[in-house]
Amino acid sequence: MTDRSSLAIILAAGEGTRMRSRTPKVLHQIADRPMIGHVLDTCKRADVGERAVVVGHGAERVRSAIADFDPQTEIYEQTERLGTAHAVLAAAPVISEDLHDIVILYGDVPLVRAETISRLRAGLSAGADIVVLGFHASDPTGYGRLLLEGDRLVAIREERDATDEERAISLCNSGMLAVRGAHLMALLSAIGNDNAKGEYYLTDAIEIANARGLTVAVEITGEDELLGVNDRAQLAAAEAAFQRRMRARTLASGVTLQAPETVTFSADTEIGADSMVEPNVVFGPGVTLGEGVRVRAFSHLEGVRIEPDVTVGPYARIRPGTTIASGARIGNFVEVKNADLGPGAKVNHLTYIGDASIGAGSNIGAGTITCNYDGRNKYRTIIGEGSFIGSNSSLVAPVTIGDQAYVGTGSVITEDVPSGALAIARGRQVNKPDRSPARAANKPKAG
Ligand code: UD1
Ligand code: CA
Repeated sequence: MTDRSSLAIILAAGEGTRMRSRTPKVLHQIADRPMIGHVLDTCKRADVGERAVVVGHGAERVRSAIADFDPQTEIYEQTERLGTAHAVLAAAPVISEDLHDIVILYGDVPLVRAETISRLRAGLSAGADIVVLGFHASDPTGYGRLLLEGDRLVAIREERDATDEERAISLCNSGMLAVRGAHLMALLSAIGNDNAKGEYYLTDAIEIANARGLTVAVEITGEDELLGVNDRAQLAAAEAAFQRRMRARTLASGVTLQAPETVTFSADTEIGADSMVEPNVVFGPGVTLGEGVRVRAFSHLEGVRIEPDVTVGPYARIRPGTTIASGARIGNFVEVKNADLGPGAKVNHLTYIGDASIGAGSNIGAGTITCNYDGRNKYRTIIGEGSFIGSNSSLVAPVTIGDQAYVGTGSVITEDVPSGALAIARGRQVNKPDRSPARAANKPKAG
């Protein structure tokens, strides 16, 4: 292990009873990503090399969610809740004096920025042994207060243990800090539990470090990054704050949002420059749009990769497993699922395309349905290039329609259509002269 190496320890043992949920707190989602996933992602973006999460006793769902999101993360268990220092100690097997820096983060404080973590680490590189992340609290109640002498941090005092004079301080402890790997174990093992809560306080590391002649610094950040989530109202506030960030980032990258506050993003939404998003659009997980894409109002997209210069919507629903090639058009009241649309393909009105591939330049008429499900299994519909499917046709999968083929309006297609063929599969029209009921009503009554 090199001296430059870094580790994040993320405390996620909180039970979150105020969420009133069967789901563990750190698995509640912000922009379709669990809170713990946000923190892990932020660590990666801050170039933190190793990540460890401390979960509560029996948190099997948290374990498996972390393994899915980031298999390289080590997971440790804090079996008894004896305080923040005790929680960090649960990760003792991965704490090493060889690590240059160790960052302590919280699984329920999901909005901390990568730049902020980098600033804490930079403080260590500049010579500090510990860098504490502080903030000026609009309401300091409940937070630990930072006791400064000049710009030296001498101690962190928990509210319950503070004097009235100390409680008047508004500079508060976020709980997050960075510490040299060389010192963490020695500091943790010196922490006792002689305080109002009878807990092992991580914050006591500051006084101990000072007594040992170590250098303790403070970095200040905005309160907006430090929002902790303990209940559903705070979860909603964190969601709103994250969405504001995504909108600002999207606008800055050269995308037009006609009514930014009405667009909902996922944490992983990617939109190319010169794209335009109309009002009331929802991006679910896994959406990547190329440049110059237009997403029209009231569309809902998830799990789709869209190439440049495509138009989608208004009122379109795009579901996972879909790719849409450049220049294609998806119109109003169209649902597309697990389908590939070739360049310039058009599906403009009132249509369901599921488990299908549609070749370049093909046109799917209004009201076309791919009948992909027989009640037990799903089957694919394959349509070649330059073909035309007449309105109100049902394509009963599995079925293949060739290139430059033509399906007559209202057909129920159950057999493959060869390239170049015209397929008509509907009842033949019959005209019966003078049998119109309307005509019958106008006839003079007999007698
Ligand atoms: C802690 C800080 C306080 C800071 C505040 C910021 C300490 C002693 N105090 O106070 O200075 O202003 O956070 O929000 O560190 N946790 C565990 N295991 C435990 C105890 C806590 O995993 O045994 C986790 C909790 O789930 C939570 C975090 O650590 O995510 C903070 O614990 P909490 O009990 O909320 O600490 P506070 O009293 O709020
Ligand atoms: Ca707390």
